[in-house]
Amino acid sequence: MSQRRRGGTVAIVGGAGAVGSTTAFALTSSRLVDEIVLVDIDDERAAGEAMDLAHGTPFVPSTDVRTGEYEDCWDADVVIVTAGASQAPDETRLDLLDRNADMFAEMIPQVTSGLDDDAMVLVVTNPVDVLTHVARTVSDLPAGQVIGSGTVLDTARFRHALGRAFDIDPADVAAHVIGEHGDSEVLVWSTANVGGVPFESYCAHNGIDDVDAFRTRVGDEVRNAAYEIIERKGRTNYRVARSVARIVDGILGDDDAVLTVSTRASGHHGIDHDVTLSLPCVVGRHGVRDVLESELSPAEREALADSATVIRGAIDRLSV
Ligand code: 2OP
Repeated sequence: MSQRRRGGTVAIVGGAGAVGSTTAFALTSSRLVDEIVLVDIDDERAAGEAMDLAHGTPFVPSTDVRTGEYEDCWDADVVIVTAGASQAPDETRLDLLDRNADMFAEMIPQVTSGLDDDAMVLVVTNPVDVLTHVARTVSDLPAGQVIGSGTVLDTARFRHALGRAFDIDPADVAAHVIGEHGDSEVLVWSTANVGGVPFESYCAHNGIDDVDAFRTRVGDEVRNAAYEIIERKGRTNYRVARSVARIVDGILGDDDAVLTVSTRASGHHGIDHDVTLSLPCVVGRHGVRDVLESELSPAEREALADSATVIRGAIDRLSV
């Protein structure tokens, strides 16, 4: 047993799956996570993953990894939900909704009924925006306690694509993806910048004349990234896991980090119907402390409204 440090317990429901186990792997490098509990209907596989992960303790910060049941989530500081069907090559994220929503309706109350008031639920299963809404509804937890991984990964993909196109460290590119984590997501070009230089000025300075073609190419790359990867290897796991680990660190470290997590919009950018989608949020120990509203262009505002309509339409079709 490792020596205990100040940190938190993270339970991963679906912890034996590709995203769940890779998330556990990413979290074993976190200085903020003391204990990871893998919960999965496949007990044997979860036990195997826990053993495999625990053997890294000589090389990385000491994190205990064990298996557990739904009730073991009740002691967690953060419960990550990755359980559910994942996309086949010819499916969209929204195509998974019926299968995963039914499973959420049965599982989430068992996971959340004994949770502490200050524990956070972080939904990762797709379609993540709609399932974050479902998790909140069936758990009856306050909106602030249930968030989704949203477009944190898409935002990373956007920065990566711009960094590669410009030959700049993606860490020095500021750009966000908002709306649905899915086909209707919105790349916010109007505020994208490189080291404070607005995107269009940066293009002009670097001889990029056909800015529209550039936008289309990068937009397609970001929007289709998951399809391209799933076509080749059957799933995505590494960077979604890294994105989730970043959110967990932000919560446990009370970082007040700005992350495009999925949360309930309440009037932001004129979206006044009950819908859960990604916007830049200030995330700390108690979840979303604030939602930031940047100045969107009229086209981006319209695209965001369309994205909200797509998500709301999916919520309205639910039977749970
Ligand atoms: C991803 O974007 C499939 O949602 C998953 O990698």
